[in-house]
Amino acid sequence: MSTPHTSTSRAPGPAAATTAARPAQPNVVLSVHDLNTTFAAGSRTSNVVRGVSFDLRRGQTLMLLGESGSGKSVTARSIMRLYGRNATITGSVRLSGQELLDLSADRMRGVRGARIALVPQDPTGSLDPLRRIGAQITEVLALHNVERLRRAGRRQAEELLRLVGINDPKRVADSYPHELSGGMRQRAVIAIAVSCDPEVLIADEPTTALDVTVQKQILELFADLQDRLGMATLMVTHDVGVAAEAGDRVGVMYAGRLVEEGPAAQVFASPRHPYTAGLLAALPSPGVPRGTLRSIPGSPPPAGAFPAGCAFAPRCPVARDSCRTDDPPLVAVAPDRSVACPVVNPASPSAPPSTPTAGAVDIPSPAAPPADQPSALSKGGPR
Ligand SMILES: Nc1ncnc2c1ncn2[C@@H]1O[C@H](COP(=O)(O)OP(=O)(O)OP(=O)(O)O)[C@@H](O)[C@H]1O
Ligand code: SF4
Ligand SMILES: [Mg+2]
Repeated sequence: MSTPHTSTSRAPGPAAATTAARPAQPNVVLSVHDLNTTFAAGSRTSNVVRGVSFDLRRGQTLMLLGESGSGKSVTARSIMRLYGRNATITGSVRLSGQELLDLSADRMRGVRGARIALVPQDPTGSLDPLRRIGAQITEVLALHNVERLRRAGRRQAEELLRLVGINDPKRVADSYPHELSGGMRQRAVIAIAVSCDPEVLIADEPTTALDVTVQKQILELFADLQDRLGMATLMVTHDVGVAAEAGDRVGVMYAGRLVEEGPAAQVFASPRHPYTAGLLAALPSPGVPRGTLRSIPGSPPPAGAFPAGCAFAPRCPVARDSCRTDDPPLVAVAPDRSVACPVVNPASPSAPPSTPTAGAVDIPSPAAPPADQPSALSKGGPR
C-alpha cells in the first residue's frame, strides 16, 4: 500500500449545499458526506469525485455501480486515504463516528487494515509473489499488533483461510500466490482483509477477473462473512448483475457524482434517473429477445472535462435546455431514495413520498446508437 501524504480537509466542497441532508441513522458505521477528490498534475487539476454522500449500516452491502472512469475506485480509495500528495480529499468520512479525514497519517495507518479494510481491484497484485500465503496473513496480524491472533500465528492464518471457504488451509498457507487458482487467490486476499475483524470491508471489483461460477461463490462468501463478522460492506462494481445479486443498496455513479441511491430492489425495479434506466436497458438477460437491447449512446466525459450542468445531458434521452446549465443535486425523492434528476423527479412538497409527482417525465428506453457510433457500455462499461 502506498504511504499516504494526502491533503485532507473537512472544509465543505463545492457541492456541499447540494447534497441530500442526512440525519444521523442508527447502526451507521460509515458515513460519507460531500466527499471530493481532486488530483493535481502540474498546473492542472481534475475533480474526479464530486460531492459523494452516503451512509452504510452494520450488516449492509452498498454497491457502487457505474461505467469505467466514473470514480468508483477513487471514492473507495479516498475513504481509506490511499493517495499521495497530488490528491486533495475534502468532505467528511466518519467511521463509527470518528472523523477519518482529521486523523494524522500515523493514526490513519492504525485504522487502515484494522477497522476498515480493502480488497483491491487487482487482488493478485496485492499479494507478494515471493512469500507464502500463511506468512502474508500473519504479517498483517503482527502489523496491527492483534496480540491474541499474533500469538496464535500460523494456526490463526489457517483458521482465516478456513473461514473464507478454503478446505485445505495447510496446503494453501504453504503455497506461493502463483500456485493458486484465481478464485483461491481472491479468497486469500479476502482472508487478509478480514483478519483484523474490520467494521467496514471495501471490495473493489472483487469478482471481475473470475469466471461466473467462482464469481457466485465469492459473492456468497462476502454475504456469509458479513453475517458472521457483522461487518458492513462497500462493494464497487461495473456489473449490474453483480450489483443486483449482492447489494442491499446501490449507489449509481456518473462522472464522479452519485446520481441515484437507494434499496437495490427498488432501484432496479423502477429506476428514477435516466442513466440508471439506460444501464438496465443495456442488460442482457435470457428472456430478452436478440436485438432489443439498447446501449447508452456515446461515452462518459473524461475526468477534468465534465460538461457544465448535468454531466449526463449529452447522452440523456430526456435532457432539456436547463440540464446544460444547472448541475442537479442529489435529493431525497422518497424516504429511502435519492436521485439527481429534477426533470424525471420534479419537486412537489404535496406529493406522496414514493409517487412520481405530477409533471414528471417518463424515462424512455435509450435509442439504439447508430451502427458507426460505439457505446461505452460495449467497451468497458457494465458488461
Ligand atoms: N491517482 C490518480 N491520479 C490522477 N487521476 C486519477 C488517479 N486515479 C484515478 N484517476 C482518474 O479518476 C477517474 C476515475 O477513476 P476510477 O479509477 O475511480 O474509475 P472507476 O469508476 O473505478 O473505473 P473502472 O471501472 O475502470 O475501474 C479516471 O478518469 C482516472 O483516470
Ligand atoms: S438532469 Fe436533465 S440531463 Fe440530467 S439526467 Fe435529468 S433529464 Fe437527463
Ligand atoms: Mg475502478
